[in-house]
Amino acid sequence: MSEKKFNRFTITAALPYANGPVHIGHLAGVYVPADIYARYLRLKGKDVAFVCGSDEHGVAITLKARNEGKTPKQVVDQYHEQIKKSFDDFGISFDIYSRTSSKTHANTASDMFRGLYEKGVFKEEVSEQFYDEVEQQFLADRYIKGTCPTCGFEEAYGDQCENCGSTLSPSELINPKSMLSGEAPTKRETKHWYFPLDEYEGWLRKWILEGHSEWKPNVYGQCKSWIDSGLRPRPMTRDLDWGIPVPVPDAEGKVLYVWFDAPIGYISATKDWAESKGKNWEDYWKSEDTRLLHFIGKDNIVFHCIIFPSLLKADGDYILPDNVPANEFLNLEGNKISTSRNWAVWLHEYLQEFPDQQDVLRYVLTANAPETKDNDFTWKDFQTRNNSELVAILGNFVNRAVVLTHKYFDGKIPVAENLQPVDLQVVEEIKTFPDRIAASLEQFRFREALSHLMDLARVGNKYLADTEPWKLIKQDSQRVKSIMNISLQVAANLAVLCEPFLPQTATKLRTILNMKPHTWEQAGSEKLLTADSPVEKAQLLFEKIEDEAIENQVNKLMETKAANDQQNTVNVNPAKEEIAFDDFMKMDLRVGEILTAEPVPKSNKLLKFTVDTGLDKRTIVSGIAKHFTPEEMVGKKVTVLVNLAPRKIMGVESQGMLLFAENADGSLKSVMPAQDAENGAGIS
Ligand code: MF3
Ligand code: ZN
Repeated sequence: MSEKKFNRFTITAALPYANGPVHIGHLAGVYVPADIYARYLRLKGKDVAFVCGSDEHGVAITLKARNEGKTPKQVVDQYHEQIKKSFDDFGISFDIYSRTSSKTHANTASDMFRGLYEKGVFKEEVSEQFYDEVEQQFLADRYIKGTCPTCGFEEAYGDQCENCGSTLSPSELINPKSMLSGEAPTKRETKHWYFPLDEYEGWLRKWILEGHSEWKPNVYGQCKSWIDSGLRPRPMTRDLDWGIPVPVPDAEGKVLYVWFDAPIGYISATKDWAESKGKNWEDYWKSEDTRLLHFIGKDNIVFHCIIFPSLLKADGDYILPDNVPANEFLNLEGNKISTSRNWAVWLHEYLQEFPDQQDVLRYVLTANAPETKDNDFTWKDFQTRNNSELVAILGNFVNRAVVLTHKYFDGKIPVAENLQPVDLQVVEEIKTFPDRIAASLEQFRFREALSHLMDLARVGNKYLADTEPWKLIKQDSQRVKSIMNISLQVAANLAVLCEPFLPQTATKLRTILNMKPHTWEQAGSEKLLTADSPVEKAQLLFEKIEDEAIENQVNKLMETKAANDQQNTVNVNPAKEEIAFDDFMKMDLRVGEILTAEPVPKSNKLLKFTVDTGLDKRTIVSGIAKHFTPEEMVGKKVTVLVNLAPRKIMGVESQGMLLFAENADGSLKSVMPAQDAENGAGIS
């Protein structure tokens, strides 16, 4: 393998935004696989720098601060500590967990920017950007709301409509409003520094599409589609008052774009770590015999495969990632994990409810990792994997080996002698596991690697079942000595090989077996434990999880769901202000009948109807396509507001409005006049 040419490894895990705690999706997608890989390499005796830290700049932070009535600094200080603790609790073995508000980082990112600037890499460009005259500041896309041009949703953000999912730019919004002052923003000219990504297209094509066809298909495919659809220059600066000041003349009030500074955080973290260890950071970033690997989630692919490498390339001195094993997303009980809707299993909460059981979660998240497609976490699956895999296979095997050794041999490891074919077969099998697991890990197939590990425990269980030492002990205790010795050697191999996946379990196992840490190369042997040395009394590695604990978790999620629905109800329900009778009488409501119905092209929300109002036959456009098909509407009686001023919706003039009832969950129900009410009959 290509592994041969590398003497050093720099492993990065995406810097999480310090705007909230971490949840199972983070762990499954990025941090557990990265940690497994780093631990595995260390067991192989490799020189590893495993770096991470909090991403503390950008709009993600300032928005959170605004919503919570705090300063950005208060927000990042709070969450940085909490995130750091969660990683620590779950055994994520970073060599350093740093943060992008550090001094080292500000210097590193500024130097990098200035270096590129001085080389003439950036293109300066003046453009018009939205500006809030009241607050006297430029507005990030996320700070602008307005009506979505595609679906008519009135709360769309400047970068995306959360109703129909379309990607937007703020100037496409109808009726844009600043979220700061609520006023309509104006436009002002502002200068920014653009990185000419378009100039790197040819190089990226060669480097990734020709040079790295071994990357995971989901990663390679995304890169290909980005490159094929044409790369454009990207501004590397922003008008914002939170971030690293742009370190060049004429850039007052501007900061580095968060996606420029954050990945450089990997380098800053390495610097601080290297300094504390008396090492040279440049070995980890500028030496061709160092293998750089980025562990990330799929939403980060373009930044780590295309933009950051192009910046490193432009700088000229840096190595490039050799692989970017990005994962897909983990859903929770069938729904997308959502911080704002509290649809998540938070790591700190998990530990309150399943104290000391971090390895169970690590196990389940690895066994079910979203390696090639999005996957679903369910509490039922969590319980099953714990009870019928960790408890019944791994825990059960170790427990039997240790208990029997105490029962028959006073807790002393007996000598193996006169090995029989059944013993020798197990010895042969043990030998194959380190390479088998390693081969899967080297290809970033963590699920497969974990299932090999469990197969080793299965080998142990089968061995005990085949040899039945409890039946032999009366007539042939010599034979039982060999069986127990070999069983314990299997357990010792499990202790070494499970360490990347289940570090806490590895420690427990080593304690029970009175074992020193071993290297990966030493595993695969039937001589890890010495005869006559003692083993400790059995201690359960895993405990059965009862239905009740699972029901509690599911109920908790149901409550979250109910609370979210409740909130929706509150949103739609408040009574409108009182109106006079005359105001009501101004509305001309009639019974109408739908004659024709068809979708409006390029809209997934709008339907266009011809309605017989009794007065005339007219066109009315209505945003109900998600709730009714055109076919089911034809022939229906409807309630029509006929004297509403006509207006154009997506190019079609709508002459009136159809009335519907909207439930708390947003679904629409018809408000139908009786079938024998006549077209044109007035409603009052
Ligand atoms: N904070 C980003 C996110 O959560 C990830 C940043 S990764 C880095 O999506 F490379 F920029 F550090
Ligand atoms: Zn929309």
